[in-house]
Amino acid sequence: MVSDPSPPSAAAAGNPSIGRRLEGRTALVTGALSGIGQAAADRLEAEGARVFRLDLSPAEGERRIAADVSDLSAWRQVAELIRAETPTLDILVNSAGIFGLGSLAEHSAESFYRFFAVNQLGPALGIKALLPLLRRAGNASVVNVASGAALFGFDNALGYMSSKWGLRGASRALARELAPEVRVNCIFPGLIDTPMAGINSAERQSDIAERTPLKRIGRPEEVAAAIAFLASDDASYITGSELTIDGGICA
Ligand SMILES: NC(=O)c1ccc[n+]([C@@H]2O[C@H](COP(=O)([O-])OP(=O)(O)OC[C@H]3O[C@@H](n4cnc5c(N)ncnc54)[C@H](O)[C@@H]3O)[C@@H](O)[C@H]2O)c1
Repeated sequence: MVSDPSPPSAAAAGNPSIGRRLEGRTALVTGALSGIGQAAADRLEAEGARVFRLDLSPAEGERRIAADVSDLSAWRQVAELIRAETPTLDILVNSAGIFGLGSLAEHSAESFYRFFAVNQLGPALGIKALLPLLRRAGNASVVNVASGAALFGFDNALGYMSSKWGLRGASRALARELAPEVRVNCIFPGLIDTPMAGINSAERQSDIAERTPLKRIGRPEEVAAAIAFLASDDASYITGSELTIDGGICA
């Protein structure tokens, strides 16, 4: 584990409205090699944070960590790695997740459990392993990335929906339990233009865009901006909250 900063993405770096409100903070982002997690890591870095990027596979670059979020022993090693570099962790963004369709008939116990293990248990295990570092920061922020699928029902998504509703509940429980040292908030993106969204056909994507009041699907940078807000002192009185970032489709 080395500690030279890697440059933020062009999108985050080139945005003149981005300030340095996270200067001096340390962050860990899961699912940071793709989509929303990657955009969040870039945004936090652009705002001045030192960012550890965790994902399943090893990646080139500084402060990259390969781990499976559903594995508590992996999380314990992650906590050791971070503790070797810093006594505190200010920000944890739980963005790693899996998506897939499937009815009750189509799910095996194993496939159902995998949604639960990654999408619901993963964030809880991360918080558990990193809690001493988060508490020591005194004013830490956890952002859990749920989904609009945790606000309403849609067809044929039993495993995904159940796991995201579970994450929503866990976020509220942990906001109460971990205050006042740690704030815990949950966000609910609508359809966002990432590799995960590519599972939907082009037809389905344009249908969703049409039904969205803002008439388009979202960009990962738009979710990252909300994550950076919740991570920052601008959200110092916000915990246990639920924020939709969905162009209004859940309105
Ligand atoms: N894209 C959307 O439309 C959308 C909408 C609502 C919610 N979300 C949620 O946002 C989060 C990020 O999704 P995305 O669109 O960026 O997806 P993505 O597939 O682009 O990125 C997800 C990342 O998580 C990583 N990951 C998956 N399982 C992991 C594990 N067990 N351990 C560590 N890393 C793991 C993947 O390797 C990948 O890099 C997910 O939790 C997803 O459910 C996405």
